[in-house]
Amino acid sequence: MNRRHKKRWEDQSLLHIGRRPASTSYYNSSLEKKTLNGEWRFLYLEAPEFSPKGFEDVDYPSNNWDTIMVPGAWQMQGYDTMHYTDVLYLFPINPPYVPTNNPTGIYKRTFQLDEDWLERKTILKFHGVDSAFDLWINGIHTGYSKVSRIPSEFDITDLVVSGVNDITVRVYKWSDGTYLEDQDMWWLSGIFREVELINEPIEFVRDCIITSTLDISYTTGIFQADIEAEESLSEISWSLYKGKHFLLEGSTSIYNGRGKIEACIKAVCPWTAETPSLYIFRLETQDYTVDYQIGFRIVEIIDDNFTVNGKVILLNGVNLHDYNPETGRTMTYDQMKEDIVLMKQNNINAIRCSHYPAGDRFYDLCDEHGLYVIDEVDLECHGFEWVKRYDWITNDPEWEDAYIDRGVRLVKRNRRHPSIIIWSLGNESSFGCNFKSMAKEIRSLDYSRLIHYEGDSEAELTDIYSTMYSKLKDLEEKIALTTQKYNKPHILCEYGHAMGNGPGGLKEYQNFFRKYKRLQGGFIWEWYDHGIKAENKDGSTYYKYGGDFGDFPTNGNFCIDGLLMPDRTPSPALGEYKQIISPVEVTQISLEEKLYKIRNYYNFLRLDNIYLKWEIACDDKVLENGRITSIKTAAGESEVIEIPYHAFEVENNTDYYLNIFIHQKNETSYARADFEVSRFQFQLATGEIVCEIRHAGRPLDVIDEGVTYTVSNGVLEVVFNKVYGTLQSYRTADQSFITEGPKLTVYRATIDNDMYKKEDWMNKYFIQLCSEQMEAFQVQSQEDRVVVTIRKHFGCVNQSWGFHCDYKYIIHQDFEISCHLKGTSYQYGKEEPEFLPRIGVEMKVDKSLQKVRWYGKGPGENYVDSACASYMGVYQSDVDTMHTNYVYPQENGHREQVKWFSTGNDSKSLLFRSLNPIGINIHNYTAQSLEQAAHPHEIVRSEDVVVHLDYKHSGLGSNSCGQEQLEQYKVKRQDFELQYYMRVIENGREVQESKIQYLE
Ligand code: GAL
Ligand code: MG
Repeated sequence: MNRRHKKRWEDQSLLHIGRRPASTSYYNSSLEKKTLNGEWRFLYLEAPEFSPKGFEDVDYPSNNWDTIMVPGAWQMQGYDTMHYTDVLYLFPINPPYVPTNNPTGIYKRTFQLDEDWLERKTILKFHGVDSAFDLWINGIHTGYSKVSRIPSEFDITDLVVSGVNDITVRVYKWSDGTYLEDQDMWWLSGIFREVELINEPIEFVRDCIITSTLDISYTTGIFQADIEAEESLSEISWSLYKGKHFLLEGSTSIYNGRGKIEACIKAVCPWTAETPSLYIFRLETQDYTVDYQIGFRIVEIIDDNFTVNGKVILLNGVNLHDYNPETGRTMTYDQMKEDIVLMKQNNINAIRCSHYPAGDRFYDLCDEHGLYVIDEVDLECHGFEWVKRYDWITNDPEWEDAYIDRGVRLVKRNRRHPSIIIWSLGNESSFGCNFKSMAKEIRSLDYSRLIHYEGDSEAELTDIYSTMYSKLKDLEEKIALTTQKYNKPHILCEYGHAMGNGPGGLKEYQNFFRKYKRLQGGFIWEWYDHGIKAENKDGSTYYKYGGDFGDFPTNGNFCIDGLLMPDRTPSPALGEYKQIISPVEVTQISLEEKLYKIRNYYNFLRLDNIYLKWEIACDDKVLENGRITSIKTAAGESEVIEIPYHAFEVENNTDYYLNIFIHQKNETSYARADFEVSRFQFQLATGEIVCEIRHAGRPLDVIDEGVTYTVSNGVLEVVFNKVYGTLQSYRTADQSFITEGPKLTVYRATIDNDMYKKEDWMNKYFIQLCSEQMEAFQVQSQEDRVVVTIRKHFGCVNQSWGFHCDYKYIIHQDFEISCHLKGTSYQYGKEEPEFLPRIGVEMKVDKSLQKVRWYGKGPGENYVDSACASYMGVYQSDVDTMHTNYVYPQENGHREQVKWFSTGNDSKSLLFRSLNPIGINIHNYTAQSLEQAAHPHEIVRSEDVVVHLDYKHSGLGSNSCGQEQLEQYKVKRQDFELQYYMRVIENGREVQESKIQYLE
C-alpha cells in the first residue's frame, strides 16, 4: 500500500488557495465595511470527513445547527476540550500529518449586499483563524488559508450577488501548520479574531509600502511610499498631516500599477516610545481615502549597540500573549488598550509579541502610547525538542516556504508601524536552513529593522544576540564582559518568570542592564496569568489552569505565570518591576547637606514633566512636606538637588525617614496629571534607644497543676505546658490572646519558584514534618517576675540536622512577656538541604484578633529579594487582606523588616515588638493547608490566626524558569536569636506603646 495521501490540511507546501498577498494594514479609511462578527450557525465534528454532504450549499438546511459567537474559540464556548501544554504536541509526531480525529467546526451564515456595494470589489478579511480553514461563498469553494495569528484576505467579488449571500467556513483544529504553532498556551481553535467585508473600489491601491525614517542629523524626516495599484489607476493624490494639522500634499502618477512618493519633512517630530509623535499619510482618489498612521524614527546598530534615533536604548519589557479569562485569545480593542495603558503606567517601555503577531489595531495603540515592539512571527515547534530532533522541520527545505510565508505576511502587514523596531523570527524552534531563508526574505522586504531570534544561539543571522532566563552570573561573565562574543548587543527576550509568588531578584538584573552598555534590557515572562474563569458552587469566581479540565498531559499551572492576575489585579511583582525600571532614580549624596541625585534614565525626555514631593515621616505622622517642581534634568543626565527640610527634633526610640515621590506634572495619554511614577525612601535618623525601669505591678502567682504551670496576676494569665515545653495560652478572663505559643519552623508553603527544591524539601528532608523534643523545663519565681526556661531539640523526620533551642520567657508583673529564643544549629550526619525556606516561629492567636498593624516594610507583600516597592512605615490591614490571592495558592503576604506588629479586636491588641527587624506572616490558615490547596477556595480556614515571626525568610528568585534565589537571599542553617516582647494594649495605641521599652 502507498503511504496515505496528504489531505489539504496536511500539506506544508500548500500555503493557501486564493488568498490575496499580504499588504500594509491601514489605520483608517473611507471604505465601507460590514462586520461578519456575531452569531454564526455552527456544526462541530470529530473530523472534516464527517461533514454532511452539501454543507457548503446555499440552501443546505443549517437551521438545526448550534449557534456560536464569532470571534471566539470553540473550546471557550463548550465544544471540544480545553487543554494546556507548554511543549507537547497532543498527537504523535508525524509531520506533516495530523490526527485522523481532527476536531472541525463548520461555520455558516448569510450576509446582504446591495447593488451599490456590488459596483466595487468585495474583500473578505479574516483577522485570525486557528489553525486552517476552507472557505465557500455561495456554495463555491473560494479559498483555503492557514497561519492562525495573521490575517487572510480573499477577493470574493466574482462570487457575491445582490441580496442574500451564503458563507461557509470549515475550520480544522489540526493542520500541518500546527507543527509550527506549538506555543506554550491553551490549545484553542476556531475563528477567534474578527471577520469583515471591505468594499474596495475597482481602481484601488493594493499596497503602500511606507518608509518613514530620519536623516543623519535625526531632525529631517525622510518619507517614501511605494505604491502598488490596479493597472487601471493612473494617478493618486496624497497628503501628510501631523495630527489634524496639514503639512504637505501632492499627486503621483501610477504607471503599470506602480507609483512612488518621496518627501522630506524638516524639523520633524521623531517618534520614540517616550515621544510617540505620529503623522498621518493619506492616499486619496475621487472615490475614497485611506490613512496610514506613521512615525519618523531610525533604528541602527552603532558601535555594537542598537539605537533609536542615535541613542542606545534600554528595553524594560514584558512578553505579551493574547489573553482573556472568558474568551481565550479573543481580545477587544478596549482590552488591548487597557493593557497598553497599564504597561505605560508601570514604566514598561517595550513589548515582545510572544509568540505570534497581535491583532491589527494593537500596533496602532503601541504607536500612539509609545512602546517599543518586538513583533514575532507566528512560529514555534518546541515539541520536537522532546524527541531530540529539534530541527526536524526547521532544517528541512520541504518546509522552507511555510517558514517564509509566516515571516513575509507579518512584515508586509506591519512594516508601517514605528513602534516595531525588531522582527523576531519565532520562538523555540531550533535553528536551520528555513530560518536563514526567512531572514533573507525579511531583510529584502525591510532593511530598516533589526532581526531577533533566540534560537539562533550563535547570533549567526540575527542583529541581536538573545538569550532567555540567563543566570545573573552568566549574564555578566559570559555575555556582558565577553565583549568579543558576536560583537552584537544583547537582550534577554525572556527573564524574571512571574509564575505565582515572584519573581524576586529583578533589581540585580536591572543593575547589570544599567551597568553594561552591551546589555540592552529584557522582557519579563509574562504579562498575564492565563487562568480560565470558572464558578464555584457558591457562585464565586476562580480560575482554572491545565489539568482542571481533565486534560492530560498538561503543564498544570505553568500558564499562571504573569505580572497580572486573570482578573487584571496587578500582582505584587508588577509594582516591584515598576519601581525597579523607573525612568527616574533618586539616590542620597549627602545626608548632612541634604543633597540628592536625580538620575534621568530616559533617552529622549527631559524631566520637565515630573515634580517631586517629599515628606519627613516618622511612625504614622508626616512632620514636614514640600514639593520641587523645577527639575529639568536632561535625558541620560543627572542633577543634584537639595531637599530643603528643616531640622527636626529626634525623639528617643523613633525612626525618621525622607520619602520622595516622583509624579508626572501633566496628563499623558496613559495617566492623569499627578500620577505617581516611583518612590524612594531614605532613613534620616534614629532616636536613641532608651529603656525605662519597669513599674511594679500586681504580684504574680505561679500554680503548678501537674502538666501545666499557670502564671497569673489576677487579670492576665499565661499557661505553660511542662510536657511539651510550650507556652500554651495567654489570656484574660474574657479574652484569649495566644492560643498556641511559639514553635520553631523552617517550612513555608512552597512557592512555584521553589518547584525544583520542593521534592527534596518535602520528601527527603521533610521540613514540613518538624518537631521539638522537650529536654528541660524550669520555672523560677523571682522578685518581680517569673522566668521560664525551656531547652528543646528541633529536627525533622529522619534528619540529623536541626537546632538546639533555648527558649526563655520572662513574665513581668505588668504582664509583658519577653521571649528569647536562641537556636544553635547542629548537624550530626551529612545530609541536609542546601538552604531553608525560613527560620522562625509559628504561633496561633485568637480568631477574634483580625486587625493587623505593623511598622515595617509595606504596605504590600514583600520579600528580601522583592522589596523595592515597599517602604518602611506604619500600616494597618486585617488578616484576610494580608493574603495575596495567587491563582495557585502558595506562600504569600510576607512583610519584611518589621519592628513591631499587633493583632487585635475593637478594644485590645496583642503587641509584638522585636529587638531586631523580623519578617512576619499573619493568616487565617496554616502553611500546610495553603500547600494542599490547588485553588483559593480549597484553602481551609484555621480555627485561629496563624502568626509567623521569621528570623529570616528566603527570597523568591525566579527558579520556576531561571535564576534561583541569589546566595545572599537564601536562609542557610545557622545559629540565630529571636528576641521579642508581647504585651496586651488598648487597640490603636500601638505607636505609643511600641516606644515604651524596658530594661530587662
Ligand atoms: C520559555 C518559552 C515561553 C514559556 C516560558 C515558560 O521557554 O519561550 O513560551 O514557555 O519558557 O513559561
Ligand atoms: Mg515553548
